[in-house]
Order: sequence, then C-alpha cells, then structure tokens
Amino acid sequence: MKRIVILISGRGSNMQAILEADLPVEIAAVISNKPEAKGLEIAARHGVATAAVDHRQHASREQFDTALAEKIDSYQPDLVVLAGFMRILTEGFVNRYQGRLINIHPALLPAFPGLDTHEKALQEGVKVHGCTVHFVTPAVDHGPIVAQAAVPVFQDDTPDTLATRVLEQEHLIYPEAIRWFAEDRIRLENNRVNVDIAHASAPALRTPWPA
Ligand code: GAR
Repeated sequence: MKRIVILISGRGSNMQAILEADLPVEIAAVISNKPEAKGLEIAARHGVATAAVDHRQHASREQFDTALAEKIDSYQPDLVVLAGFMRILTEGFVNRYQGRLINIHPALLPAFPGLDTHEKALQEGVKVHGCTVHFVTPAVDHGPIVAQAAVPVFQDDTPDTLATRVLEQEHLIYPEAIRWFAEDRIRLENNRVNVDIAHASAPALRTPWPA
C-alpha cells in the first residue's frame, strides 16, 4: 500500500476529507509549518501521526525546506500531498519530490494562481470557476493537471459563497485523485497527466449546476 504524507498550514478541511475517504493508502503523517494549525488536532483525533516544522524557526526558505524534507523523508512517503499548505517551496524541494508531490488550488488553473482566487474570479466576472489538483513544479500553482471540478458563478455570489461551493468540490476531487495515484492509474507523459479510469471504482464527480 502506498504511503502518503499530508502537509497543511491551517484548518485542514481537505486533509480531513482525505482522512475520511477510506482510501487504499497508509497516511504516514500530517505535517504543518504552523504548530498551532487546527488541522493537526483533527489528524490526531483520527489517530494519525502529526508533526510541525515551524517556518518561523528557520532563517531562510532553503533552511526551512531542508528541515521539512528531512521530516517528510523520515516517514518514507510515496506521495506528498499539499492540502492548504501556504508556503512557497524552493526549486530544490520541488525537484526532490518530482512526480510525487501534488497540490490543490481553489481555481481552474491556469486561471487565477496565487491568493484570493474567489475575489479575482468575481472581479473578472467569470461564469465558471472551480478547483484543480496538479503535480507541483517550481512555478507557484502550476503543473500537470490531474483533476478539475467546475462550479457556476452566480450574480449574487460573494467570495465566501463561492469559496463554499468550490470547497465542496475540492473535498471530492482531492481524495479521488489520491485514489487514482494509489491505484497506479496516473501517468505523467510529456507534462500532461493521463488517467486510466476505465476500471475506476470512483463515482462520477458531481458538479453543482442549477437544474
Ligand atoms: C483550500 O481552499 C485550498 O485549495 C487552498 O487553501 C484552502 C485550504 O483549506 N490552497 C491554496 O490556495 C494553495 N494555493 P483547508 O485547510 O480547509 O484544506
């Protein structure tokens, strides 16, 4: 069974969705760059090992990433899952985990990388928004796309209502993408992801369009 390590920075709702999805993986640990992250308490309640590598205790990005990598590697994961991990990672760190480091981003990449994606979507007046699971490359919020889910944007949406609609989809597609990885269904070819889902046990992804 594949081993995964989940990295979080805060609330940990995506991490919780992964822990509760009954995936065919061993969750080796949940690690946060903030010891006070609420998600660590949730992980501990689920009986998962937790650790913190506080970025504030390291003088540079490189030193923090080295300490983080040492902690991650002590759990010998096959896959490292960024779930609301809000630190920019160095190229050295990203290259070390090439092909086994994935992230979820609350937008339909390549649109709206970075922060405040729901505000940006409303400002641009897009009619469709969503979320993306992707392999991580040194460019922030960029890399081969594994899965996406789209949601409608309504005229009376606020960043909060839109975030809630997108988050619901995040909680569906992230566990699903990890299941594909666990079942060896994911192939990275020419910087594109092909997923063999002919025999997927997964239910079809629901998309919340109005009737
Ligand atoms: C999620 O919406 C995730 O997509 C986003 O942070 C939130 C974390 O929530 N990640 C990024 O913006 C990464 N660029 P959570 O802690 O409840 O999972």
